[in-house]
Amino acid sequence: MSATVYLVGAGPGDPDLLTCKALRLLQCADVVLHDDLVSAEVLQLIPQSALTQNVGKRCGRKRITQEEIHKRMIAAARRGNTVVRLKGGDPLLYGRAGEEMDALRSAGIDFEVVPGITTAFAAAASAKIPLTDRRVSSRVIFLTAHNCKQDMPTDFGSGLSSGATLAIYMPGQNYARLQEQLLASDVRPETPCLVVSRVSRMDESLHATVVGELFLSPRVESPAILLVGPLARSPYQPNDVQRPADGLGDEIANSLATTS
Ligand SMILES: C[S@@+](CC[C@H](N)C(=O)[O-])C[C@H]1O[C@@H](n2cnc3c(N)ncnc32)[C@H](O)[C@@H]1O
Repeated sequence: MSATVYLVGAGPGDPDLLTCKALRLLQCADVVLHDDLVSAEVLQLIPQSALTQNVGKRCGRKRITQEEIHKRMIAAARRGNTVVRLKGGDPLLYGRAGEEMDALRSAGIDFEVVPGITTAFAAAASAKIPLTDRRVSSRVIFLTAHNCKQDMPTDFGSGLSSGATLAIYMPGQNYARLQEQLLASDVRPETPCLVVSRVSRMDESLHATVVGELFLSPRVESPAILLVGPLARSPYQPNDVQRPADGLGDEIANSLATTS
């Protein structure tokens, strides 16, 4: 009889941010198939008795195809193994979980999803900012810059400027292009922006800027995420933030007035 496959969120890196359930499953797994972004500290929690494989694919450098990952999960479960498919952050966000769940359903394999802390939430916690604040912003939008496909610039669509907090995953290194994309999507140049690299890890870094000066941001170690919006100011690095002088949009002016 087949065993269950668990699609488990490993969180952003700090093992203390794993859920109790994730830890319990890791400790009793027979097979763990993990992504590149799962931290070494989390991987150390897997007992040596488990068969552990890195099945990560980063920026087109494919060691293994998606279909092969499906095959390995299904084959291991059919052999009666408890399988953990371990993904960085939360498994349901930018993690191909949809394809993997489809494959498991088609194969008639039982599966369960165990949520993890997604990077945007951990980055906001590190920066000590809220993602929503009823006085300023009541929307959070998850986006990806899809940087792996250099020939296909992302169109974020219009109307992003209405005070929402944007969490931009996979921003890549081309901040000048990202700045253009944001401006083309109606985000104002004076909108605050945080570049948070290696969230929750020992070498985490945070750079505060504004969208109009994103192109000047230092290149940071990957992985990194961008938080953009009136709330995306680092309260403990206020000097890093360019406060706009004139011509403020109402929403930015309000946010500065109410959060200062
Ligand atoms: C394929 S997506 C996976 C997202 C993941 N499922 C989550 O919920 O965070 C990979 C992107 O997540 C972000 N990311 C993941 N871990 C990160 C970390 N520790 N620090 C900063 N960004 C991270 C980066 O933008 C990276 O390019």
